[in-house]
Amino acid sequence: MPQIFRVHGGSTLNGDISVGGSKNAALPLLCATLLTKDPVTLHNLPDIQDIRYTLNILEHLGSKITKIGNHSWTIDNAHIQSHTINTDLASKFRGSLIFMGSLLSRFRETILPYPGGCVIGKRPIDSHLFVAKKMGAKITENETGLRFTVKKLKGTTLIMPEVSVTATENAILLAVMAEGTTELRMVAQEPHVVDLCELLTKMGADIQGAGTHTIIIRGVKKLHGAEHSITPDYLEAAALITAGIITRGEVTVENFIPRQLDAMFVKLDEIGIKYKRYDDRVTVYPTKIFHAPSRIEARPHPGFPTDILAPFATILTQCHGMTKVFETLFEGRLGFLFELEKMGAKVEILNPHQALVIGPTKLKGTSVSSLDLRAGATMVLAGLIAQGTTEVNNIHYIDRGYEKLEEKLNSLGAKIERVTS
Ligand code: EPU
Repeated sequence: MPQIFRVHGGSTLNGDISVGGSKNAALPLLCATLLTKDPVTLHNLPDIQDIRYTLNILEHLGSKITKIGNHSWTIDNAHIQSHTINTDLASKFRGSLIFMGSLLSRFRETILPYPGGCVIGKRPIDSHLFVAKKMGAKITENETGLRFTVKKLKGTTLIMPEVSVTATENAILLAVMAEGTTELRMVAQEPHVVDLCELLTKMGADIQGAGTHTIIIRGVKKLHGAEHSITPDYLEAAALITAGIITRGEVTVENFIPRQLDAMFVKLDEIGIKYKRYDDRVTVYPTKIFHAPSRIEARPHPGFPTDILAPFATILTQCHGMTKVFETLFEGRLGFLFELEKMGAKVEILNPHQALVIGPTKLKGTSVSSLDLRAGATMVLAGLIAQGTTEVNNIHYIDRGYEKLEEKLNSLGAKIERVTS
């Protein structure tokens, strides 16, 4: 049965809230467990739909998965037989692409159905194919998906065609047990890429340069079991910080790494938001007047994350002045602005990548859609400051990436109901 969020606007949020584990780290780390026959224990795994899909795919391949705590799981891949991802599960989310590197490395062959996921742009998979080919794989295609085969993975110098996050992760997963040394250049440096390298290093991999644009990997023959806690989700942290800011409350968001959001804090300074930043938490304080920053531009890390551009736009609707929003990565990701417009925001979409947000505007409750995971969270945030009730549809997108978003916000004083329609 479809569910909606009914958000009753007007509450000021106050209190402390803890951030969960990173979705975008958990996906490649779960795939990395396939590279050893020893058990791997992961802590701080978020309890969200994309992770449930990933665990289902692993189970389908033959993994033995044991829940050992609230957010802790042990994955034992000693006896997996299959190298083929289940078509139904792969079609549900794009993260399934990250299985390519581990399965090809372990079995020298894998069949990958075409991935699904949020509709946020064309998102070709060329970079993934490029990486596999450069490491020596042959790729054949049919109507259901792609078959990758390789006799021996060989270290090479690989200059990425673009700074792609998941293609970088696939390249790392292919290189850790390849013969010889692989130099990966122009790689992504997102915190989830670094977390993947940290787990692989604990498993016995030899990786230098994680968190920079050049990673050097000396292939090893075998990896072993390890225990690791997934890095906190800086994207969830950004949404919770935004909730505190727009409701003009005093909110402490804890258990994350604020320096991963440097680009966001630069913009908060420009807007004039009052906050105090520590190594592992941030407290925001009520700010009367928000000044519009002239421009916000999504860029690969450490630039302003594309994944927080939409939630951040709720702050822009409350700023005095005009902000130019530039989504440089995805061409389908500004659609949420049409939904904000339904709530009274003043926006002008210039083209698929650029828009203007003009504020401040009073938002009013109405029925809006979650167009994707981040856009969905944005509608919930907008509902917090809207007059009246906002009904947010398609919340299955939100559940893909945020663990119990409504419960977290309600614990700070929000009034959000999950209703089965
Ligand atoms: N792109 C550029 N310029 C660049 C780099 C990328 O235009 O310098 C374009 C690419 O052409 C592509 C798009 O940006 O169309 C996405 O790039 P990327 O390949 O890095 O994305 P991804 O690996 O498919 C991951 C995250 C996304 C996140 C992007 C960008 C996972 C599972 N997914 O996707 O997360 O938006 O990186 O940071 O890690 C989300 O969490 O909501 C989400 C969609």
